Amino acid sequence: MKPKIIIDCDPGHDDAIAIMMATQLTEVLGITTVSGNAPLALTTDNALLLAELVDLDAEVHAGAGKPLLIAARHAEEAHGKTGLDGPTRPKISRSAASSDAVRFIIDTVRDNDDVWLVPIGPLTNIALAVQQAPDIVERVAGISIMGGSATVGNVTATAEFNVWADPHAASIVYGAGFQSFRMAGLNLTHKFGIDEQTISELREIDNRVALFAADLFDFYLTSYQKRTSGQRVPLHDPCAVLAITHPELFNFQNRAVAVETEGVYTRGMTVVDERGWGDKPLNCEVAYEIDRDKGMQIFIETIKAYTES
Ligand code: RIB
Ligand code: CA
Repeated sequence: MKPKIIIDCDPGHDDAIAIMMATQLTEVLGITTVSGNAPLALTTDNALLLAELVDLDAEVHAGAGKPLLIAARHAEEAHGKTGLDGPTRPKISRSAASSDAVRFIIDTVRDNDDVWLVPIGPLTNIALAVQQAPDIVERVAGISIMGGSATVGNVTATAEFNVWADPHAASIVYGAGFQSFRMAGLNLTHKFGIDEQTISELREIDNRVALFAADLFDFYLTSYQKRTSGQRVPLHDPCAVLAITHPELFNFQNRAVAVETEGVYTRGMTVVDERGWGDKPLNCEVAYEIDRDKGMQIFIETIKAYTES
């Protein structure tokens, strides 16, 4: 039985790969979008484009156009003006089912057992849903996020983009009391990167999804190499999907994690208590290791599955 999930995202190159993988590995009950890598209108258009590309039978619902308290900030330097630069954009025939992602999340969790929330962008929609319907926290099977870091940041020395973009929302979500809270932070996702060889493998698969992913990676890898010394660009968001479908790939440790919302140098930092003791609840299963080879093999196999039989 495939796990039932709601993907909350801000496509975004790595969000796109997460959607491609989730469509094969899980039962996607719906996609909700949030302002993040790009403004909401673009992340919603990109989610619609991707849902059509993978022929996903699920609705897309637009969500929050700005963070709870601070101004919206984007990541054009990483994802380009459209949020999904690189491939030629196909025409989209689909449109968003609503502009109330929070209502969709609440209703879907209340109407279905064992739903996983998979937020892979800023946590604004999830925070609003938890505030409006605290009962969903106990009702879900769990939450598996891409966000935060047990070590370094990316947008600042200490903060990872998804948490940094809406730290107040992240603080609400981390403190909500989810029984199963899996965190794929930068300390983990930086061990799951793609490179030129991955792109060549995708072009050899030669189906529409593989070629779209290869064109995404041509942009994403080049953009990353221009800005950093990295040879491989991290495939952040798919880690949040694999943490549900293939938890055996990971080494999780229970940790107390809090979000800094005020610090001059640390706003948006996930403060992970590595002491292993203390008076704070161990609210998070933090991922520290991933079997990269096995994870990449699963990624390639899911993309191959789009080859029309
Ligand atoms: O820091 C990486 C995260 O920020 C990923 O989810 C990426 O898509 C961006 O949203
Ligand atoms: Ca994302």
